[in-house]
Amino acid sequence: MTDITTSCQNGSPPRGKFITLEGIDGAGKTTHLSWFCDRLSERAAQQAARVIVTSEPGGTLLGEMLREILLHQEMHCETEALLMFAARREHISTLIEPALIRGDWVLSDRFTDATFAYQGGGLGLSIDRLKVLEQWVQGELQPDHTVLFDLPTDTAYARRSGVRLPDKFESKSNAFFMRTRAEYLRRTAQEPERFSIINAAGLINEVREQLEAILLTL
Ligand code: TYD
Repeated sequence: MTDITTSCQNGSPPRGKFITLEGIDGAGKTTHLSWFCDRLSERAAQQAARVIVTSEPGGTLLGEMLREILLHQEMHCETEALLMFAARREHISTLIEPALIRGDWVLSDRFTDATFAYQGGGLGLSIDRLKVLEQWVQGELQPDHTVLFDLPTDTAYARRSGVRLPDKFESKSNAFFMRTRAEYLRRTAQEPERFSIINAAGLINEVREQLEAILLTL
């Protein structure tokens, strides 16, 4: 893997920023994504950079094929984690890494925190095992900043009910989402400088105000 931290030498553009959005299903990431992207693009333009929006699992042709399988096919929890990381490896090498090297900013709807939260917290997979995969697939690559949309699991459940037919993850129990949320929060406590936590239970405008404040710090 190219070491992207050394890509700024010899007049090449400064490395772009890598920003991720996280949260349990129903937290409202999708509602805010295009607005957040527009506002982030204004910030990026000040540094003559573009924002590339992407998502996981997915973001590449192969990743989208894996997404279909992951969202609709039951499988062993370790198979699920391995496929998440397989899709991520492709995503990093074909989209994320080249964009950051070009100096573009990458905004990803979910990244590795989701694997720790869903497959680690939710499904109970060993966090240490996931860390081995993380190191293998990502090396030193980590998001520069991660926004966690946090809200109680029953509020999230109410939001996602009846919108459309739930996929495999959206159909999980409240206990699953409580464990998933707890793992997200545990990670924010471990890396407070990387995370911003949004209170996502409020109205759209209230959430936007919090996002505005974060944008100013980027
Ligand atoms: P997402 O695209 O955010 O859901 P939607 O757009 O349908 O609201 O994510 C798809 C699902 O994949 C989501 O339920 C969380 C799950 N997921 C994992 O379990 N592990 C992962 O590593 C990732 C990236 C996603």
